[in-house]
Amino acid sequence: MADLAREIKTVGVVGAGTMGRGIARVAAEAGFQVLLVDVTQELVDRALQANDRELQRMVEKGKLSAEERAAVMARFKGTTDVAEMAACDFVIEAIFEDLAVKKDLFRRLDEICRPGVVLASNTSALSITEIAVATRRPQLVAGMHFFNPAPVMKLVEVVRGLTTADETVDLVRDMAARFGKEPVIVKESPGFVVNRILVPMMNEAIWLLQEGVASAEDIDKAMKLGANHPIGPLALADLVGLDVLLAVVETLHRELGEDKYRPAPLLRQMVRAGRLGRKSGAGFYQYA
Ligand code: CAA
Repeated sequence: MADLAREIKTVGVVGAGTMGRGIARVAAEAGFQVLLVDVTQELVDRALQANDRELQRMVEKGKLSAEERAAVMARFKGTTDVAEMAACDFVIEAIFEDLAVKKDLFRRLDEICRPGVVLASNTSALSITEIAVATRRPQLVAGMHFFNPAPVMKLVEVVRGLTTADETVDLVRDMAARFGKEPVIVKESPGFVVNRILVPMMNEAIWLLQEGVASAEDIDKAMKLGANHPIGPLALADLVGLDVLLAVVETLHRELGEDKYRPAPLLRQMVRAGRLGRKSGAGFYQYA
């Protein structure tokens, strides 16, 4: 196999949405130079501003000094030119959950990035193997799955595709640890571990709501008080994003072929209506 780029100073993050900007923040806080790329300057600027606001809140809470905040922000660079990923020693993709688009992106990253650079995908449920074989370095492609909100959630699932080399798995696990996260290693399988369990639960909550069994507030209250979940499944669906949730449910349904993974029709309707949860201002709840 190609020599792995083990000395990592600059981390590339592709996709400046909720997950991408959160991952970028985690990497910058861990001391890496971070290059964040998305298709428009507006998306990149919005992500950098949101990260700056969150860091400012940490300063206000006394969890970060003003100097540390400035140092973290100075490690970020935004761009709309994916070719700039040539400067990166490790790349994490966090774009939307569309396999064809991800494969195209990995093909491009493979052309742009130095040989030996590991390309990781934050996909929630898609096949790492299928993404990997779109490149000429399938042994250097792995999953690195963060959880929302990335700066808060401690877990990273390190996903081994069929072609992923052991050294790649080790490097991604080490990077997760350097980011201050707790890695678990999982074999490629739809939804890996967390989403295989969590996503059907959120889908089930939407079925309950659709059937009129209880109100959204009471479904969430029931799971918070009856199962000690930090937030209820419908509030969690709003946090994850209903478009992301639907994409994962559809992947589970298609790949595992079982009816128990069928998306609730109400979930489809919400996505069609553009009610995507927190990020669009409305989902099962309204957001300011
Ligand atoms: N970004 C950054 N920080 C955030 C944040 C965000 N979006 N949301 C909350 N925080 C921080 C807050 O600033 C606060 O920090 P301090 O402790 O330093 O003050 C801390 O998190 C706690 O926040 P709050 O007090 O406002 O609210 P909370 O106690 O309810 O915690 C939560 C918020 C951490 C999100 C909590 O509700 C929770 O753990 N929810 C479950 C989250 C979860 O299950 N995520 C996985 C989703 S599935 C997924 O991501 C996989 C996928 O592929 C679909």
